Order: sequence, then C-alpha cells, then structure tokens
Amino acid sequence: MGVSQGSFGDAELWGDQSPAPFLDAARLTDDLTEPQRQAVTHPGGPLLVVAGAGSGKTRVLTRRVAYLLEVDRVAPWEILAITFTNKAADEMKRRVAELVGSRSERMWVQTFHSACLRLLRANAGVLGFEPGFTIYDSDESRSEVERIMKDLGIDVKATKPRSVLAMISAAKNAMQSPDAYLEVDAEPKREMVAKVYQRYEDSLRRANAMDFDDLLLNAVRMLQKDAEVRQRYQRQFRHVLVDEFQDTNGVQNKLVEILAEHHGNICVVGDADQSIYRFRAA
Ligand SMILES: Nc1ncnc2c1ncn2[C@@H]1O[C@H](COP(=O)(O)OP(=O)(O)OP(=O)(O)O)[C@@H](O)[C@H]1O
Ligand SMILES: [Mg+2]
Repeated sequence: MGVSQGSFGDAELWGDQSPAPFLDAARLTDDLTEPQRQAVTHPGGPLLVVAGAGSGKTRVLTRRVAYLLEVDRVAPWEILAITFTNKAADEMKRRVAELVGSRSERMWVQTFHSACLRLLRANAGVLGFEPGFTIYDSDESRSEVERIMKDLGIDVKATKPRSVLAMISAAKNAMQSPDAYLEVDAEPKREMVAKVYQRYEDSLRRANAMDFDDLLLNAVRMLQKDAEVRQRYQRQFRHVLVDEFQDTNGVQNKLVEILAEHHGNICVVGDADQSIYRFRAA
C-alpha cells in the first residue's frame, strides 16, 4: 500500500488549540446607554462613576472587566475587582465568565476581606505572622475582649464587651493604634478602651491570630512595610475596580490607593449625589 505524501499545517495536524478568538467591542457595549458605554470603554486613569440606585453601576463594572480582558487584552491576573459581599463577587465572576469565558478564571475578584487574606497568607512573614495564622470571628473576638476586661477588673455588666469591641473595631478601621486612639482624647472611658485594645492586640499576636478588622489593617501595614512586596502587587494590578465605593472606610480606601498607585487605573462606582457620569437603565 502506498503512502501518500502531503504537507500539513500545524493546526491540521494537532487540531486548533488556540483559545477562543477575542470578541469585538460592540458585543460588550451595544446594549449600553451612552454614559455607560463611556465608562466601560474609558481608556485608563482614574474613573469615578456615581449614579443612583439600580441605575446599572454594577453592570458597568462587570462590562468594563470583560472589556479590559477582551478588547484591551489585559491579562486576568492584572485585574483586581473588589465587591462588598462574597455573593456579589461570585455574581461578578459568573457574569464576566458568561461574557468572555474561561479567560476570566485567573482574575482577582474579591471582597476587601478575601483580597486582604490572600495578600496576607502569601506575605504573613512581613509582619511576623506565621502563614497559617488563624482568624477570629466576631464571637471569638468578643469573648477575648470580655476575658481581658474581667482580667483588668472592669465590670462587664456596666460596660458591655460588645461595645468595647465596637470601639476597638472603629479605631482599627481608622487605622489607629491603641496609642493613637488614646491621643485623640484621653478621657477615662477612652483610656479603658485603649488599655483593653492594647491587651487584645498582644493576645492576638501571641495566638498568631487576626480578627476581621486586622485583615484589612494588616494588609495595608504589610504593603506599607515591605517595598518589594508592595511594588510587586502595584505592578501586577494594572486595573483596580471597586463596586459600592460609597461604603468604603478609611483603611479600605488606603488599600485601594496603594494597590492602584503604579498604574493609576482605578475605576470606582458608587451611589451619591454628585456625578461625573450620570446614567439610567434604559
Ligand atoms: N443599559 C441597560 N439596558 C438594560 N438593562 C440594564 C441596563 N443597565 C442596567 N440594566 C439592568 O438594571 C438592573 C440594575 O443594574 P445594576 O445592578 O447594574 O445597577 P446598580 O446601579 O449596580 O444597582 P444597585 O444600586 O442596587 O447596586 C439590572 O437588572 C441590569 O441588568
Ligand atoms: Mg450595584
């Protein structure tokens, strides 16, 4: 039997293994209003989208992520998209995957807490934590505060541990150490809270543990402390996007500011009165 000769292209021999072709911009924008389209296709630099409830802000953010992947050819791991709840993060992942498929898989779509946890697990040593540090939930935090208060002889019936923890939490979210917290105003109640706060910090340290607020605070501290780690993430995140920006607090703002510093491509959407881009659902 003779063997016929011929030449084959690689694709014919091996099958076409290249990823799905990129989509054109129109498919991602043709059902948007003009202001939505402008926000989605914004070339870069800071972008603030402020519009009313239900006007399509999250839709803009999701489309923009898809647009960056598909049209601007940004790599998935260069995109950090922050939402407020795990449910919103899952929803965004699902919606982007529907638009662009598996290309979206390696994006960082996170809540503030999950993004910080991821940064800290990979770089725990910068702040002297073990990588397997534990996380106290709010019940564990409250009972630890209660234990410390009893230790200090504070009447936990008169002053509820929960309220002291809330004050500690507010201090952490304002990025105040126990000393800085006390400096604001040294009245007796504050002195007591600062003392409990300091002991609480010491006890978390000893337990190689962080509470929910620490995840944010320590992620910022870690980035501030280690220039090499900071620059690595600053270079990695070509685009940082934040949904529900009106709800961010001081430490969350700081995190976003640090991570977006190198490329300056920060897109935030939120509810408020003033607006740069105003739009309504069609
Ligand atoms: N241009 C549009 N055409 C059709 N439907 C739209 C358009 N823009 C938004 N929508 C729809 O309007 C609804 C609200 O959109 P979306 O959730 O993005 O708004 P939002 O501003 O983020 O709302 P919230 O204030 O609750 O966060 C969704 O069902 C969305 O699909
Ligand atoms: Mg929304």
